[in-house]
Amino acid sequence: MSLADDVAKLESEAIERISQADSLDSLRELEIRFLGRKGPLNTILKNLKDLSIDERKVIGAKANETRGRLETLLAERIASYESRVEDTTFDPTLPGTGQRIGVVHILNQVMGDICRVFHGMGFEIAHGPHIETDYYNFGALNFPPEHPARDEQDTFFVEGGRVLRTHTTPVQPRELEKRKPPVKIIMPGRTFRHEEITTRAHISFHQVDGFLVDENISIADLKGTLVAYYKAFYGEGLKYRFRPSYFPFTEPSIEIDVTCFLCNGKGCQLCKYAGWLEILGSGMIHPNVLKSAGWDPEKYTGFAFGMGVERQAMLKYRINDVRLFFNSNVRFLRQFV
Ligand code: DAH
Repeated sequence: MSLADDVAKLESEAIERISQADSLDSLRELEIRFLGRKGPLNTILKNLKDLSIDERKVIGAKANETRGRLETLLAERIASYESRVEDTTFDPTLPGTGQRIGVVHILNQVMGDICRVFHGMGFEIAHGPHIETDYYNFGALNFPPEHPARDEQDTFFVEGGRVLRTHTTPVQPRELEKRKPPVKIIMPGRTFRHEEITTRAHISFHQVDGFLVDENISIADLKGTLVAYYKAFYGEGLKYRFRPSYFPFTEPSIEIDVTCFLCNGKGCQLCKYAGWLEILGSGMIHPNVLKSAGWDPEKYTGFAFGMGVERQAMLKYRINDVRLFFNSNVRFLRQFV
């Protein structure tokens, strides 16, 4: 075989290997191997001086052409790798991807805010069971046996003559039975009613109830405490009114309204053109409730109140559909960071 054939063979082998190389490292190795100082092409070129003049011309030209072609091919392939490597290189100027941090559910936030206001006024926090006896949900709260709220339209009945509590008020007789005066307690929690689900009502919702019992408690204490609450929760500057109402467990019963936030009392859809929004129910604890729990109503008096957490949240944040709280729509929930 002639030296010219050797160069041709070398070129075809090098082209094949360079074309098949599958990493930048192997291309660099091939570069050294075929074009390096100690590589076969260089050796041929170095030894040209031993050849005849004619051979020297032919082989020299051939070897140089081969080297040129291999250099071009290698440079192309290496460049293609280098640009790929650059694409995946860390770029400190790009904005970070960030971490998604969860938020406390708006209902828990509002429930916490309400509890904090009362806690600041010295109220303790108490909880009761979701599945409640008929006695604590109704009887101990002075509901007459034929009261319509006992009707199955409002109440979910469960096995054993028990109910899903329809309000958080049953925690009041439960705590009264256990304690000695004075007592100041708020009771946040989940409640259930057999209602049609609409923009305003849901079968499961939340309430915060509270009460205070001691000697010489009057309606002035009720007023002072509840005015302090809604000023802390809704802010100063709202007008309010106390309106007579009825609950079996309070006498007298009072509902508190505030001027409609949206229309400022002029009348709009939110306040059903009344100019007022009801925020909570309250009253002086009925003597029968104290008596049932073993307290002497001649000696002790107290006030109680209860409010819907969803309602407070809807009024404060202008949310127009109660179902939004329960459908786990992250775009809704993330607004309340
Ligand atoms: N339990 C009542 C309801 O669900 C709210 C309520 C009104 C609670 C007056 C009270 C109260 O403790 O004194 O509508």
